[in-house]
Amino acid sequence: MERTFAIIKPDAVAAGNTGRIIAMIEENGFKILAMRKIEMTRKQAEGFYAVHRERPFFASLVKFMTEGPCVVMALEREDAIAAWRELMGPTDPAKAPEGTIRKLYGTNIERNAVHGSDAPETAATELAFFFSTADLL
Ligand code: RTP
Ligand code: MG
Repeated sequence: MERTFAIIKPDAVAAGNTGRIIAMIEENGFKILAMRKIEMTRKQAEGFYAVHRERPFFASLVKFMTEGPCVVMALEREDAIAAWRELMGPTDPAKAPEGTIRKLYGTNIERNAVHGSDAPETAATELAFFFSTADLL
């Protein structure tokens, strides 16, 4: 079993797609270990996406992630990191295969509905950023 960190981003929450995305998560065999609806602060968004701070889209990304509520989740499944990224689809919804979350609910390369950790080390860091040990037992 493996764990990954997921976010239903502000665009998808505002559009009323939270329930449909959670249903897809469960239908694809993920167990939701922990889940919380939050409004990310500017400091949280800047910290969470710190690896991107030199990228030209960083300011816009922080503005997007703080524009309204999002849902943070800890997911568990066999091969969870790769399986969740496959279910999300690629960063750009225009390039996403049919049936992926970003194809169904993403708008553009920034407003792409969901986040997923990209490796075991980032999953561990991101889970710890939003959840305490006691949430993940
Ligand atoms: P994520 O981290 O959110 O799961 O997405 P990802 O791995 O597919 O993409 P990443 O390269 O890590 O980028 C993080 C998020 O930044 C926004 N972005 N905007 N305007 C742009 O060119 C651009 N590129 C990326 C997206 O919201 C992307 O998910
Ligand atoms: Mg990423």
